[in-house]
Amino acid sequence: MPDAPLNIADIRREYMLEALDEDIAGHDPITFFRKWFTEAEAAQTTDINAMTLATIDARHNPHARIVLLKGLDEQSFVFFTNYDSDKGREIDENPNVALLFYWKELERQVRIEGFTEKISAEESDAYFHSRPTASKIGAWASPQSRKIAARNILDLNFAKYEKEFTDIFIPRPEHWGGYRVLPSRIEFWQGRTSRLHDRILFTQTEIGGWERHRLAP
Ligand SMILES: Cc1cc2nc3c(=O)[nH]c(=O)nc-3n(C[C@H](O)[C@H](O)[C@H](O)COP(=O)(O)O)c2cc1C
Repeated sequence: MPDAPLNIADIRREYMLEALDEDIAGHDPITFFRKWFTEAEAAQTTDINAMTLATIDARHNPHARIVLLKGLDEQSFVFFTNYDSDKGREIDENPNVALLFYWKELERQVRIEGFTEKISAEESDAYFHSRPTASKIGAWASPQSRKIAARNILDLNFAKYEKEFTDIFIPRPEHWGGYRVLPSRIEFWQGRTSRLHDRILFTQTEIGGWERHRLAP
């Protein structure tokens, strides 16, 4: 029997929860991001810190994947990964990246664009050592982004490192650590009715402050 057609074009919904205006957004996008993040925590059950990370390779081809936001300070967004992964190599070649959050329960999107740098070894150590043992061993066992012949390579690698690190301190692999994204643009999108959504964009000024603009949806 042929597969039933997918009515993809008919999937749509109205966005009607809330409005976003300049007074609500304020003048500091990081402070406002914290507010939206806290509200997402209250509204959404899982993965509120999951964000799409887009990178560009040396041939200018874009690549996107999800990573988890693991830190936020007054200036930057932090995530952790394998520095030798495809994304790590792409960031080495071009440190300009984009991050994207979509909190569907709140009908909200946040777009962040900025410059990436590695966090200090001490900061990466601190986070690495806070992870569960299996995650630490996983960081040793997976040559992230490399082609492997079969699933059992991972299982064998895991067993090897589990044995090697039995009852001893598990160091952070040098190829594993954090990046911080220092944003130069942050846009907040709130879904509205009739596709007339609210978009408030913050762009960084040369002296380090923020300019705020409203964009057409
Ligand atoms: C919900 C979710 C969370 C993820 N979190 C991370 C993460 O924090 N760090 C990471 O390296 N990969 C994470 N991944 C896996 C990445 O999406 C990706 O498969 C991996 O990093 C390899 O990407 P690359 O080959 O482009 O470097 C996550 C995937 C999902 C779906």
